[in-house]
Amino acid sequence: MSLNGVGHLAGKNIAVTGAGNGIGRAIALACAAEGAKVVVADYGVSMEGSDPSSEVADAVVAEIAAAGGTAIAVAGDVSEMEVGQRIVDTAVENWGSIDGVVCVAGIVRERMLFNMSEEEFDHVVGVHLKGHFTLYKAASAVMRKQETGGSLVGFTSGAFVASTAQANYSAAKGGIVSLTRSAAFALKKYGVNANCIAPAAMTRMSENVPFEIEAGGPEAIAPLAVWLMSDAARDVTAQIYTCTGKRIAVWNQPAEIRHMWADDGASFSVDEIAEKLPATIGDEEMPMFADLERRMKEMALAKEQAKEAKEQAGSASGA
Ligand SMILES: NC(=O)c1ccc[n+]([C@@H]2O[C@H](COP(=O)([O-])OP(=O)(O)OC[C@H]3O[C@@H](n4cnc5c(N)ncnc54)[C@H](O)[C@@H]3O)[C@@H](O)[C@H]2O)c1
Repeated sequence: MSLNGVGHLAGKNIAVTGAGNGIGRAIALACAAEGAKVVVADYGVSMEGSDPSSEVADAVVAEIAAAGGTAIAVAGDVSEMEVGQRIVDTAVENWGSIDGVVCVAGIVRERMLFNMSEEEFDHVVGVHLKGHFTLYKAASAVMRKQETGGSLVGFTSGAFVASTAQANYSAAKGGIVSLTRSAAFALKKYGVNANCIAPAAMTRMSENVPFEIEAGGPEAIAPLAVWLMSDAARDVTAQIYTCTGKRIAVWNQPAEIRHMWADDGASFSVDEIAEKLPATIGDEEMPMFADLERRMKEMALAKEQAKEAKEQAGSASGA
């Protein structure tokens, strides 16, 4: 790498979790290129969260140092309070402040809801959702006392809306949205902004998705994270941005859209609900049902085409 940024984060000290691979690594490198000192936090685990190692965090630190930047590795499990604190303390003790925290660390443990174990649920929620809390808590305690405030950047996913075989992941990603919005709400007065990115990028985590996704390389996510932590985005807070590299979208703010009142001004009976609700407020279509149907058709078609291609190859080699 070369540190060829233009200094969007000059003078800032930033911690990135999951910085040893994929999107986190790309963000750590981009932060260093934009002039920040970086805590490279990664537990060096497999996609399912096993076999920890300090190698990947050390390798990214070496890459930044070789390019003339400054970085320190922390290899620990972000779902532990002590590790979140250690990551923040590393920046503060070595460089004097923590100006940005980007929580990218993540794992997947796929299983249909009815087969999912308690351990699979707790593990995924622990790494993703608690792994944001540990960092947000430790960082915001410092940021609220800094004149310059700071930035919290969470990593959610489009899957927070729903996911067929990843209820644990979806629940964690939904929790990250609410946690980040709560951080934004509570910390605005201290000059701290908090936003979420819902990325799509080609990494080890996305390579087995059984349908085509709109995604570029992990480095294509980094500019949005950099911008959210830069002084130019100080007033941008409580937002969720999808980023697929070539496309960035902003999500709506959840809000009630229709309501009805009880006849007696106090409460509804079941019969009154049954009579009034469908005709007045009704329900809202879940667009993901249509998506799921389309994807199932695409997958069935791809399977059929692969079968035909295999048969043709077989008959050609037999001829
Ligand atoms: N790649 C995508 O298309 C995509 C889509 C939606 C959301 N996301 C989210 O973006 C984030 C990054 O994904 P990625 O594709 O770069 O994944 P990745 O597997 O390439 O990298 C994840 C990193 O997190 C680290 N990690 C895992 N558990 C940890 C723990 N307990 N403590 C510290 N580090 C830990 C791993 O060692 C790894 O280096 C994740 O939160 C993921 O859910 C990715």
